[in-house]
Amino acid sequence: MERTYIGDLKSKIGEEVKINGWVDVRRDHGKLIFLDIRDASGKVQAVALPNHAEAHEICSKLRSEWVIEATAKVNKRPERMINKNEENGEIELEFLTVTVLNEATTPPFDISGDGMEIGEDSRLKYRYVDLRRVRLQKNIRSRHGITKFIRDYLSDRNFVEIETPILTKSTPEGARDYVVPSRLYHGKFYALPQSPQQYKQLLMASGFEKYFQIAKCFRDEDTRGDRQPEFTQMDLEMSFVNRENVMALIEALIIELVEGIFPEKQIQGKPFPRISYKESVEKYKTDRPDMRKDKDDKNLLAFCWVIDFPFFEKTDTGEWTFTHNPFSRAIPEHEDLVMKKEKISDILTTQYDIVLNGFEIGGGSIRNHKPEALEKVFEIMGFTTERIKQNFCHMLEALGSGTPPHGGIAFGLDRLVTLLLNEPNIREVIAFPKTGEGRDLMMDSPSEIDPKQLKELGIKI
Ligand code: AMO
Repeated sequence: MERTYIGDLKSKIGEEVKINGWVDVRRDHGKLIFLDIRDASGKVQAVALPNHAEAHEICSKLRSEWVIEATAKVNKRPERMINKNEENGEIELEFLTVTVLNEATTPPFDISGDGMEIGEDSRLKYRYVDLRRVRLQKNIRSRHGITKFIRDYLSDRNFVEIETPILTKSTPEGARDYVVPSRLYHGKFYALPQSPQQYKQLLMASGFEKYFQIAKCFRDEDTRGDRQPEFTQMDLEMSFVNRENVMALIEALIIELVEGIFPEKQIQGKPFPRISYKESVEKYKTDRPDMRKDKDDKNLLAFCWVIDFPFFEKTDTGEWTFTHNPFSRAIPEHEDLVMKKEKISDILTTQYDIVLNGFEIGGGSIRNHKPEALEKVFEIMGFTTERIKQNFCHMLEALGSGTPPHGGIAFGLDRLVTLLLNEPNIREVIAFPKTGEGRDLMMDSPSEIDPKQLKELGIKI
């Protein structure tokens, strides 16, 4: 017999079926044993009756989380037993045969509720069990739906999904790099990408014109509710575009996504309002303004664009550094200030950040596609010719090889999903997140490595 998914049982009343799944709850009334059985598609109530003696005997031993296979008759419940609030509340399975596929140890915690009352360390240590709860199943599946929507949307518009390397080179993205020692070149290190920024620009040099990637990014920063050491960006880049083109694409994508997948949500302002960095800081004291008119409304989404950021700011030690992205281009009116290296503090960048309910969910810019302009940015930041050559020779050469004007954006997929699902932090929408202290409690990582591995890498601790 073919397996029937629990979610499809409703249409099988009167038939005999085979199901696979987990014992969710068992209620033993002696003669009658009731079991809730769960698979990836749903939950159903089953009953073991004494007249199917063998099945009844096995069911008397079943415990929560045991994995079973069963054949059963799909019965319509008598009228007074129908529960309209349950997904399969109109039916009940009558077990005919039951096979135990695997027993289970007693679960470390209850998975029937939302799990918010359980200590997070325990939830993360036994994440594979935690992920069985309905809320997390829903979160991870919604995340898939959102990712698929974005993939389809961009693919339909001729974007090409291209993977870029994870073993790469330390670059200045603003955060600390994770580094990987090289075995073949002792004393040298790869770095994990903080974002695919340089690669995606190089793909514009290669003539792909429209790139996107659901990209893993790594930043060695202190973790917070909306930050993880490794996180996912929906990253894209386009050639022959200006700021308006990129913003229009993203705005249309987000509106269609929300209206298509979350019809219960209300977008506060369409088109998304725009505010300059200066006005935002003056009016809201932040560059991520929460513009919601009603902060109690769970379904209200207030998107806004923040634009006209200063390109440069002073570091604690008095040098100029970039505020967002060294590869950004100045707004057209300020390009000559970059070339002349004048009035540095006045220079505005083409950077656009997208903010949702007070959280920065994405950001991007138009880039400097002329090598001389990018070189000037590095000079303003006080980089020596030597250092520019050493770190960015490939970028300058690529820009000089016939690179079209281009720009792009990346949003924090984890943050977007978190906000759309009304979750309190991004760990709730990531299958295997790190703790606030950057640890993977399930795998027990970071951990020591074998002395032999250290020796091969030429590292002494
Ligand atoms: P940026 O650094 O602004 O831009 O990153 C883009 C978006 O990624 C999200 N984000 C994070 N999410 C979770 N954990 C983190 N540690 C974390 N850091 C950032 C934010 C942010 O808006 N290459 C540029 C994009 C571009 O210019 O195209 C970049 O990485 O939501």
